[in-house]
Amino acid sequence: NKTSNQLLVIFGASGDLTARKLIPALYNLYEGGHFPENFAVLGASRSDMSDEEFRKRVVYESPFLKDKLKKKDDEFIKKFADMMFYSDLGDDYDSEYSKLNKRITSLNEEHGLDGNYSFYLSTPPSLFEPISKNLSDQGLTKGSGTDKGFRRIIVEKPFGYSLETAKELNAGLQKYFKEKQIYRIDHYLGKETVQNLMVTRFSNSIFEPLWNRNYIHHVEITNAETVGVEKRGGYYDKSGALRDMFQSHLLQIVSLIVMEPPISADADEIHNEKVKALKSIRRMTDTQTLFDHTMKGQYVASSIDGKRVKGYREEEGVDPDSKTETYAAIKFFVDNWRWKDVPFYVRTAKRMPTKVTEVVIHFKTPHHQVFKEQDINNKDNKLVIRIQPDEGILIKFGVKVPGQGFKVERANMDFYYSSLADKNIMDAYERLLLDAMQGDTTLYARADEVEAAWAFVDPILEYWANDKDVPTYGYPAGTWGPKNSDDLIEDSNGWRNPGE
Ligand code: BG6
Repeated sequence: NKTSNQLLVIFGASGDLTARKLIPALYNLYEGGHFPENFAVLGASRSDMSDEEFRKRVVYESPFLKDKLKKKDDEFIKKFADMMFYSDLGDDYDSEYSKLNKRITSLNEEHGLDGNYSFYLSTPPSLFEPISKNLSDQGLTKGSGTDKGFRRIIVEKPFGYSLETAKELNAGLQKYFKEKQIYRIDHYLGKETVQNLMVTRFSNSIFEPLWNRNYIHHVEITNAETVGVEKRGGYYDKSGALRDMFQSHLLQIVSLIVMEPPISADADEIHNEKVKALKSIRRMTDTQTLFDHTMKGQYVASSIDGKRVKGYREEEGVDPDSKTETYAAIKFFVDNWRWKDVPFYVRTAKRMPTKVTEVVIHFKTPHHQVFKEQDINNKDNKLVIRIQPDEGILIKFGVKVPGQGFKVERANMDFYYSSLADKNIMDAYERLLLDAMQGDTTLYARADEVEAAWAFVDPILEYWANDKDVPTYGYPAGTWGPKNSDDLIEDSNGWRNPGE
């Protein structure tokens, strides 16, 4: 794919995400030779900084680039840093746009950027619409006259707080940009192993024929983190695990497992199938189902490796009476021809024993049991897709135990991505930024996808927020969740806890 000359304008450039993720991702692209001939980055935010100060902050003195820069000579680094510019936006984002416009125009002319601009909004969502409006007022949202360049806008999550707010955000952006110009980041889609879900399914003939209700017993997805809410207590307490992880990243994974084969790898074809998949998830509307099929929990203080770990309610920025979930587990069904009656179990939590994201496809046991000497709890085939860490795919299948009789045991066929060591795997932001620079929206979430995900999550959020009978179970930090967490998944053998 070709990357055209272009300018990347980052709003919120003095923030944490810019230094921690965006600039290192850009640096990797630069190092990997992925920049077009002419490229520049213009940081914009409320802080008052010169170009040089910005370069110091995000390049020369950045703790996030330190190790990488050590390996390179000054000239190489300077060339990268010299592509960084900065323009301050005063005290509120509404003013100073004509100044920004002038800066953009002069950078365009001086550096031969062909009028191609991408605007990256690393800002709170409440600023998406006002920034878009200001850009539009300056004539910056579409190429005009002799200036035929492209205009793109890239936005960060959280994308909405509910279905209604997501619709408002979409409408706000779509007043000024066409859907094709809008790139909604979900960094899980930038992960190789998430993309590989589609490749595993649609480039092999050994999985897809079995990928349906006739052969699959249930599907399980676990997303566990060892960290707590860190310094984000204020944000997290208003959000919770369902909004923070499930609505976005996990439902994206679900859509890739559930979707029908697209007719081609064209972005729209893939998005169409994902939307259909998300729409076929059965909405939970009655209280009994909501009670039976959802579970929320919160980590409480405990001791890990002899050190006391705070409970969620003691975290900075968190209401001491908070009911916000740090553990969410949901059981649901997908109402279509392929998946009817196959239960899906998805859980996500902070402060678990290990950091892991994996998908487990549990196949049905053979209809007729020929060999009696088989562990009753371990006789199904499993396909384990490790999203992170130890990226790879594991198949569990039955083999004969050597010796007399027919004793069956599970054996592993295990593929590790790391065995493809000659391939340099791009990190999620790097991959997504490059795609945006090349105008490829495949790995970005489309408006209707985001809305379909919210439509499923909304009733659960409402039920959790408004029904007094919903328990918030405590679980000691560093454990696999509430004591009764297996109750949700009782029709199988409980959750598979990786590493146990
Ligand atoms: C973010 C959430 O989107 O994803 C965080 O806001 C979470 O709370 C993070 O920690 C997890 O991402 P990863 O790539 O580390 O699994």
